[in-house]
Amino acid sequence: MSFTDAQLAQYEERGAVTIDTPFTTEQLDKAEAAWDRLKQSGQPPYEDPDYIDVVQHPYFEEVAKKLLRAEAVHLWWGLAPHERGPVEPPYASLRDQWAKGCHVDIQATMEDFSATPRRMRAELWFWLNDVPVNRGAMRILEGSHRPIMEHWSRVLTPEHKAMLPRVHGLRPAPVAETALACPEHVPELSSTPWVEQEPTAAVARRGQVLILCSSGLHSAWANQDSVPRKAMGTSWVASDVRCGLPKNQRDAVMDFFPRLRSKLSPERAHIVPDDFDWLFESNYEPKWPETFTSAQ
Ligand SMILES: [Fe+2]
Repeated sequence: MSFTDAQLAQYEERGAVTIDTPFTTEQLDKAEAAWDRLKQSGQPPYEDPDYIDVVQHPYFEEVAKKLLRAEAVHLWWGLAPHERGPVEPPYASLRDQWAKGCHVDIQATMEDFSATPRRMRAELWFWLNDVPVNRGAMRILEGSHRPIMEHWSRVLTPEHKAMLPRVHGLRPAPVAETALACPEHVPELSSTPWVEQEPTAAVARRGQVLILCSSGLHSAWANQDSVPRKAMGTSWVASDVRCGLPKNQRDAVMDFFPRLRSKLSPERAHIVPDDFDWLFESNYEPKWPETFTSAQ
């Protein structure tokens, strides 16, 4: 498998690493054609056999197992092909895009991240076309996952730690009063504010995979190219790790997974669980007061 120990160490240190995959040009052409078809038709992705072939390819499961230090894993998310379409100028400055867009998605403690199996969502972004810097390459503040998870380790109550990991989008202050998270935020943890730090562009070649820990800060980015950035992302969790999703996302998974599972080959069906005991509901309400203790 082309996911080395050095790359795993890079993921742990920086919260992101881009790796090669064994997909051939012919397989990538088929996958990209499926992506194009699905975008055009709006059909549920599990209806397209070529999409199914990507999702159930053993490679992703093997990468997730190694990443999560788990003997068994299953999908957590991956409901639709992902598009980052071109946008018209004028483009906001790099600094403004970062200040506006940076956020985390997964709330987890350092104990979660360090555990075996790792209690984290393994996010695999499989690129079906090249991701040069100007094609909406995601920006990632490398290494930010660690101080942020350490912060949650310090401040969260034991009762709340038991409700992690969960999808819980947060950003640095100020948080708009209309935002669901408000007044929760990612506090400043160094002398340089998060929005003044330099994110890295996650550039990649077609057929590579970005492995992302979205407990760290990252941001979508304006695609200044003339073609969309095309991805088929899947997310994974170790078997026997319970994890949280907001109600609407949990409902979507519980609707989608049985349909997806029914389309998988029998020997690959285990990548979609047949129950949802592992998936609890976790919303912005009730708020956890320890997540907005410092001044906005
Ligand atoms: Fe995100």
